[in-house]
Amino acid sequence: MQVDTAIIGAGAAGMMCAAHTIGRVLLVDHARAPGEKIRISGGGRCNFTNLHCGPHAFLSANPHFAKSALARYTQWDFIDLVDRHRITWHEKTLGQLFCDTSAKEIIAMLRELLQQNGVDLSLQTTASDFAKTPDGFEFTLTRDSVTQQVCARRLVMATGGKSIPKMGATGLAYDVATQFGLPVTDTRPALVPFTFPQERFAGLAGVSVPARVTAGGQSFDEALLFTHRGLSGPAVLQASSYWRESEAVTVNLIPHIDLLGDLRTRRAASGRRNLTTEMATALPTRLVDHLASDLNLTGNLADQSDKRLSDVCTQLSDWHLTPSGTEGYRTAEVTLGGVDTNALSAKTMEAKNVPGLFFIGEAVDVTGWLGGYNFQWAWSSAMAAARSL
Ligand code: FDA
Repeated sequence: MQVDTAIIGAGAAGMMCAAHTIGRVLLVDHARAPGEKIRISGGGRCNFTNLHCGPHAFLSANPHFAKSALARYTQWDFIDLVDRHRITWHEKTLGQLFCDTSAKEIIAMLRELLQQNGVDLSLQTTASDFAKTPDGFEFTLTRDSVTQQVCARRLVMATGGKSIPKMGATGLAYDVATQFGLPVTDTRPALVPFTFPQERFAGLAGVSVPARVTAGGQSFDEALLFTHRGLSGPAVLQASSYWRESEAVTVNLIPHIDLLGDLRTRRAASGRRNLTTEMATALPTRLVDHLASDLNLTGNLADQSDKRLSDVCTQLSDWHLTPSGTEGYRTAEVTLGGVDTNALSAKTMEAKNVPGLFFIGEAVDVTGWLGGYNFQWAWSSAMAAARSL
């Protein structure tokens, strides 16, 4: 089979790229259906972009790399596309846009675009034995034990990262990069819950609290969720991208409350009130009960000196916790790291030293915050490549 462009991986980036590439396009995926991560994303409603998307919300060894693609295909461009397909959406919080009805609408939109562009979509198909030829690339397709040789003038790797292997994630893009001499940065699970020894927070499982979580010098003000195995919730997932093994994370449980001022005022007005009962007006009762034994919180307000109240509040606002690890790729939303951006053109995603070879989406060392940024990178990097193909 001879095609102009072969795209491996029919996820967000691969579909977007195939839908906008001219010429004969072959899109290959080993899964039964395209866009499986889109389907399960955002609790089934797909947080497809973020109103505040910009380079500040991405991690990469080269923080400038994502700028060009993000600027040339923006969140407004994708919103426009979604609007043109009459998909209704809403802003949930912090600029995060979700489908009103279902993530399946985004997949249906992309499938429609693929069809309109005459893309040949080959599912339940593996691609292997990639080789460079004078005219482009050659590789083997295998479907139902039947193999076929493909010659493609251009090859786009869009197989994503390693997160959720159960859903078919593989490191194929990294392997192909390595085979063709492109460096791959260290990869690790990101946007992932923390685990703690001995199920330290098991008694608090299910308790959620607004918090500021800081790791690696970066803070996030969002919900923190205690789980059987450790900590989760948006603030924790965000911080996990900046965390490294054996480091502590700092949790501020009272980022927007003047608890010290409140407790002092109440002590003056009604000192016979119990300290923990008063704290439970600001924090979930189960959390206060847990902290009461950790911080030895006993007695009435009148029993507490200014220093004691101040110490308690400091412990709540500057709680140092050292996770034993993370839940790993099993539950991580994304993979941090990937194909080294130094080896790619920021304008087209083409390998600088291997003309015709492109890497897009999560496979590249560009990782977004939680909140629709990773899909926007998939759309933007896909369009950067598609416009040059
Ligand atoms: P993606 O992973 O989407 O696609 C890769 C494709 O390649 C898959 O179809 C896979 O089957 C295929 N493939 C892999 N290896 C292959 C091989 N060897 N041969 C053939 N095919 C192969 N982001 C966001 O912005 N908003 C959100 O709401 C969410 N929610 C979310 C929830 C959950 C549970 C997860 C796991 C992730 C998210 N994300 C997210 C992250 C987002 O899903 C992710 O960043 C994008 O899907 C990345 O798009 P890609 O196209 O690069 O990879």
